Amino acid sequence: MKAWYIETELRKFRAGERGAQFDDIEGMRMRPMALSLPTEGDIPVIAKYVESLPPVRHAPILGGDAKIGKRRYALCSGCHNPDGGGNESVKAPRLAGLDDWYLATELKKFRGGVRGADPRDEEGTAMAPMAKSREREGDSRHIRLHQHAAASCQFGDAEPMNHADPSSDQTFKTVFWIVMTTAAAFVAAAWIMIR
Ligand code: HEC
Repeated sequence: MKAWYIETELRKFRAGERGAQFDDIEGMRMRPMALSLPTEGDIPVIAKYVESLPPVRHAPILGGDAKIGKRRYALCSGCHNPDGGGNESVKAPRLAGLDDWYLATELKKFRGGVRGADPRDEEGTAMAPMAKSREREGDSRHIRLHQHAAASCQFGDAEPMNHADPSSDQTFKTVFWIVMTTAAAFVAAAWIMIR
């Protein structure tokens, strides 16, 4: 996630342009967190740190048709770029790699006037009509899936939808537990010997 977008959103949360509406439960939860940063100067610092974190991918959970998504995404690509990488000059953030449930939630918020309704929120008010232009609610599912495919390509996977495979998660968990158990056994053995 790019630092410029994180900064923009943190400022919006602090100013109440985002996360101040009662029907935006997640936003209302986030706003006090943004306000808890002691000074304005902390915003670029934390944004830079978040940008430095390596991307974490999660398997899609909502389903949908990536082919239909690709067609529907034509409208979005003007601002968010054909590869979903975003475009700072129009303040459109990266979409590739976002969790499908998050994309869906935000599109719903833009459609329902829960996000992008505050007249001070320039970028949100540019985005809201785009979400409303989708004729059917189901479309957003397809758009999300296309994003996942685009994201996979971007991170250099041979198989675009590889990330849908939850078994890689499982392998990670198994290796993690083996390493942790071995480490715990060593610590216990050392403790017994020292005694
Ligand atoms: C006219 C330019 C424009 C077009 C076209 C556009 N967007 Fe956006 N979009 C934006 C901007 C600007 C933002 C940042 C809003 C903000 O700062 O709150 C945004 C934000 C978003 C977000 C929120 C991302 C996040 O991290 O919270 C989603 C999701 C999104 N757009 C999806 C889409 C989809 C899907 C389409 C196509 C149907 C689309 N956009 C078309 C300009 C655009």
